[in-house]
Amino acid sequence: MSPKAKTVYRCTNCGADHPKWAGRCDACGEWNTLVEEMATRATTSASGRRISGQKSMAEGGSVAPTVRLRDVKSSQGRRLKTGIKEFDFVLGGGIVPGSMVLVGGEPGIGKSTLLLQVAGKLEELGHSTLYVSGEESALQVKLRAERLHGSAENVSLLNETLLETILATAGSERLDAIVVDSIQTVFTSDLEGAPGNVGQVRECAARLMRFAKETETTVFAVGHVTKGGGIAGPKTLEHIVDTVLYFEGEGMLEHRILRATKNRFGSVDEIGVFRMTEEGLIAVENPSELFLGDRLNNSSGSAVTALLEGSRPVLIEIQGLATKTGYGTAQRVSTGYDGRRLALLLAVLDKRAGLSFSQFDVFLNVVGGVRMQEPAGDLAVASALASSIYDRPVANSAIFLGEVGLGGEIRPVSQAERRLGEAAKMGMTVAYMSERGIPKRGSRGLEVVGVRTINDLFRHLFQT
Ligand SMILES: Nc1ncnc2c1ncn2[C@@H]1O[C@H](COP(=O)(O)OP(=O)(O)OP(=O)(O)O)[C@@H](O)[C@H]1O
Ligand SMILES: [Mg+2]
Ligand SMILES: [Zn+2]
Repeated sequence: MSPKAKTVYRCTNCGADHPKWAGRCDACGEWNTLVEEMATRATTSASGRRISGQKSMAEGGSVAPTVRLRDVKSSQGRRLKTGIKEFDFVLGGGIVPGSMVLVGGEPGIGKSTLLLQVAGKLEELGHSTLYVSGEESALQVKLRAERLHGSAENVSLLNETLLETILATAGSERLDAIVVDSIQTVFTSDLEGAPGNVGQVRECAARLMRFAKETETTVFAVGHVTKGGGIAGPKTLEHIVDTVLYFEGEGMLEHRILRATKNRFGSVDEIGVFRMTEEGLIAVENPSELFLGDRLNNSSGSAVTALLEGSRPVLIEIQGLATKTGYGTAQRVSTGYDGRRLALLLAVLDKRAGLSFSQFDVFLNVVGGVRMQEPAGDLAVASALASSIYDRPVANSAIFLGEVGLGGEIRPVSQAERRLGEAAKMGMTVAYMSERGIPKRGSRGLEVVGVRTINDLFRHLFQT
């Protein structure tokens, strides 16, 4: 073992060094700002020479070679596919060798399951993968692998939390990927702090990142999420790594959504939808089907719209129910849609289309636990409510796209072409949308009906 490296406690506010930890920085007076780090933040240059990160300018800095960009070996385009399409998609088309990917998510959401499945797939495709578990015993990981029907049984497992051992082990064989589950359990013996503290997490992440770059190994690190929704530990963690993925669930549902919030190698707009099952995570290739699966045929008070999740359109059903108010004031209950927006739409329906809801309790539900934030869904909400009050269903295969203005006018939506494309793919046959927003290019067998106002629309729908 190398002699213990010297560490200092640096103030994150003013940068002053302290030999010992203290609650308060005596240079600037801030509380709880001291974070342990290595005394000399030495970095290794690409040529393997050590250059000092701090005093290189004036005192004894050495000259490092430069390289023309055209001579830089490019691994661009070389991406490993995991075969889990949704996962590759979110990463921007597969795993980039030498990148570091942080996977965050709430406790129990399925981070370990996802990465064990990814490791299993990589191994299956001949890419050697090491799974480092600092959180669970080998037996626990094996039990999970059994749930996955043995698809991960060729993955090598290392039960270790000491970073030095992890890096030495990983460096002793040619690996394509390692999974570190989780970054909060790993620690370096160079720092005194306990695993999970800011200094430890930051230093371990930085060294794993360096390992990834130097060995062209992809490092996946699991990160726990705090109550605030960020990944526990320093915010700088997200700056250090190349890609940050969040794995999220929607309430009680079995759906899991994987989304990139940072990606040096791709767009951050894409999402992947999975279902958590007894056999592990199953990619949902057609999220809309999942969301629309249980739709009743021809019942009144239901209308479909296409919302954008990132750049990906997802079909969503809106249900409206208007029932005669018994006593007192009429109720307005809205799930997944802003209550004030609902009140506004009801007023517009009253004033511009002569549909009065004053004697009705109104219930509105965006199906699937989705929170609708885009105004593009207004038209579907208005149609569902009108359908309920007329007690006349709208066609099951109709989709509604549009923002409704105070004058009852219907406004175009962004990325209409994408939404129409998804609707057509899902078997929708007719789309109602703002006349002005109809894309020039046709939409694959979908009939597009342009409407100017909600009155226009209701005339089409209910022959009013
Ligand atoms: N037999 C099963 N059938 C269906 N789902 C299961 C089954 N066993 C476990 N799960 C699901 O897997 C989840 C746990 O997955 P996993 O351990 O991968 O999550 P994690 O995000 O790594 O959690 P942690 O934060 O504890 O590390 C459970 O919350 C549960 O939803
Ligand atoms: Mg886990
Ligand atoms: Zn200070």
